[in-house]
Amino acid sequence: MAGERRYEGKAKVMLATEAGDRLWMRFKDDATALDGQKKATIAGKGALNAKITAVLMGLVAAGGVPTHLRRQVDEVTLEVDALEMMGVEVVLRNVLAGSLARRLGREEGQVLPMPVIEFYLKDDSLHDPMLAEDHVLALGLASREELAEMRRLTGRVNEILKAALLAHGITLVDFKLEFGRRGQTVVLGDEISPDTCRLWDTKTGEKLDKDRFRRDLGGLEQAYQEVASRLERA
Ligand code: ADP
Ligand code: TMP
Ligand code: ASP
Repeated sequence: MAGERRYEGKAKVMLATEAGDRLWMRFKDDATALDGQKKATIAGKGALNAKITAVLMGLVAAGGVPTHLRRQVDEVTLEVDALEMMGVEVVLRNVLAGSLARRLGREEGQVLPMPVIEFYLKDDSLHDPMLAEDHVLALGLASREELAEMRRLTGRVNEILKAALLAHGITLVDFKLEFGRRGQTVVLGDEISPDTCRLWDTKTGEKLDKDRFRRDLGGLEQAYQEVASRLERA
């Protein structure tokens, strides 16, 4: 049984459990963009993101990446290890899109010759500013070893998910991860879902992710359902 609310964020509620070192992560139907300024409720999104996160975290765990996921409790709830979060968002990009395309004044869609890893401070009030790796160290957000480990694990997550999604006709354009500490170990936390990844249909280029909401394209629930259905197929 889960009890008191530890934290309510934009997309999820974190609940305390009797085992003090575990949390229940409950996915909401809320969608937000622009650091919460744009909001909507999309029926079914929570359950789809819980399911997709469970499948994708399972894949990366099987590939040797330590994750916080313990089990799926119900349609919208995952039980996870409570982590001491780093307070950093790690973004990996395979294809030029989103804020990088905007900042560089480039068209979206260029395949990058190497995966690009970026760090952002998790702070909505500052609009999640980008950090140089030296900032991560100088602000004491992570040690040199932890920073290297986050980079290594993010690269590994990319190798695993890029291949797995491609097998389902989905191009992994970019994604955001959040890591935390469990004792001395750097562990992947939070979610991996179409809210936190850019996923393009490999054949048609159709967007199967939260850009449908950010860019008012409509059809978000159907797109997430399409991702979940493809992942269910062997
Ligand atoms: P946000 O804070 O961005 O609005 P969410 O609504 O997704 O985010 O809420 C989830 C919160 O829980 C985030 O702050 C995330 O960093 C944190 N979190 C994710 N996994 C864990 C974990 N295993 N232990 C502790 N905190 C976690
Ligand atoms: P960006 O191009 O807007 O910087 O986003 C890069 C990736 O990170 C994209 O897959 C969406 C994801 N992301 C989040 O999960 N949360 C955020 O707050 C932002 C800005 C991006
Ligand atoms: N940080 C944004 C928000 O307001 C999320 C995003 O654009 O992905 O939820």
